[in-house]
Amino acid sequence: MIGIFDRLSRPFLWAFDPEDAHHLAIKALRLMPLPGAASDPKELGVRAFGLNFPNPVGLAAGFDKNAEVPDALLRLGFGFVEVGTVTPRAQAGNPRPRLFRLEADQGVINRLGFNNAGADDVLARLAARASRSGIVGVNIGANRDSADRTQDYVRLIETFAAVASYFTVNVSSPNTPGLRDLQQAQALDDLLGRVIEARDRVQPLAGPTPVLLKIAPDLTLADLDDAVGVARKRRVDGMIVGNTTIARPTWLRERDKARETGGLSGRPLFKLSTRMLAETYVRAEGAFPLIGVGGVDSGATAIAKIKAGATLVQLYSGLVYRGIGLVGQIKTELVAALGRGNRTSLDAMVGVDAADMTAEAWPA
Ligand SMILES: Cc1cc2nc3c(=O)[nH]c(=O)nc-3n(C[C@H](O)[C@H](O)[C@H](O)COP(=O)(O)O)c2cc1C
Repeated sequence: MIGIFDRLSRPFLWAFDPEDAHHLAIKALRLMPLPGAASDPKELGVRAFGLNFPNPVGLAAGFDKNAEVPDALLRLGFGFVEVGTVTPRAQAGNPRPRLFRLEADQGVINRLGFNNAGADDVLARLAARASRSGIVGVNIGANRDSADRTQDYVRLIETFAAVASYFTVNVSSPNTPGLRDLQQAQALDDLLGRVIEARDRVQPLAGPTPVLLKIAPDLTLADLDDAVGVARKRRVDGMIVGNTTIARPTWLRERDKARETGGLSGRPLFKLSTRMLAETYVRAEGAFPLIGVGGVDSGATAIAKIKAGATLVQLYSGLVYRGIGLVGQIKTELVAALGRGNRTSLDAMVGVDAADMTAEAWPA
C-alpha cells in the first residue's frame, strides 16, 4: 500500500513547485483512508524522557507545522511525530519562493520563516485528538515581531502542556532573524529557566511534559559547551541535534540553488549534523537522551546516528527523495542490525562511536 502510494505520488508531486507539492501531500494524508499502523517489533521499542516509543524513527518538525495530519503520519509507521514550529500568533512567513530542492545533492533549502496558523488553531486540532494514542511532540518558537521572545515560549508551554507528548524549544531556525542568539549562554539560561519553571507550574494539571532543546549544527564547539552546560544545569529532558545549516559545503553540485538564503537539510547535512551529535553526546555524559536529525535517508544513516549518540532519530528531507516507504525500510534495517549483533534492543548501540568520531577531522 505504502509502496504503491510512493510510486503514484512521487512523480506527480515532483511536477509541482516544492511548496505546492507539500500542500498536496498534506491534503492527500488528510483525505486518504489509511489502515491502522502495523505494530512494530518489540526490539525497536525505546523508552526515553519517560515516554514509550514503539520505534525510534520520528518525523522532524516543519512537515506538519499546523498539526493537520499527525495521526495519518503515525499510521504510516513513524514512532513519533513532531508538529510545529508553532508561534503564539499566526504568521505568514517569508515571501515565496522559499523552498528549494537541490536534487543532484538530495538536499533541501528552506527559508519559510515559521509560517503557521498560530497557537489557537493548532491547539484546537491537538485537543480534538487528545484521547488518541501515539506520541505527538509540539515544537515551539517565537513570533518574528515579538517584543518578548522568552515570554512567547512560556505562553506556548502553558497553552500546549495538556496536549503535547513533549515540547521542543526551537532556538535554532535560521529563518527568524536573531532567534539563534537565544542559544548564547546567558540568554539560553534565562529562557530554559523560565520554560522549565512554566512546565513545572502547569504540571499538576497537565502532567509531566518533557522539554527538549533543539540546537543548530552551526554552533562552535565553545558555544556547544555552553549550550549543553546550560541544558544540564536547567535539567532539560533531552536535546535534538539539530536544525538546518546555514553553511554550504563547497562540493554541492546544485551551485545556483545553493546560493539561496535559508537552512540546508538532507544528505548534505548528514556529516556535520552527525559530528555535532557525537560532540553533544560526549558533553551530555548521559545526563539526558538525544534525538539525531539531519540527512537520515536509509537504515545505514539511521544506525550511524544511533552510534553517534542518538536514542531516537528524526527525518524530513529524506521523505522528499525516498517517499514514505523510507520509514519501513529503516525499521527493517534496524531489526536486521539487531539480529546481526544478537541484540534485543538498540540501547547498547547508542553512542558507541561518539568518542572516536570526535577525534576525526572536522567534516568538510
Ligand atoms: C521545509 C522544511 C521546514 C522546516 N521547518 C522546521 C520548523 O518549523 N521547525 C524546526 O525546528 N525545524 C524545521 N525544519 C528542520 C527539520 O526539522 C530538521 O531539523 C532538518 O530538516 C534536518 O533533517 P533532514 O535532513 O532529515 O531534513 C524544517 C526543515 C525543512 C526541510
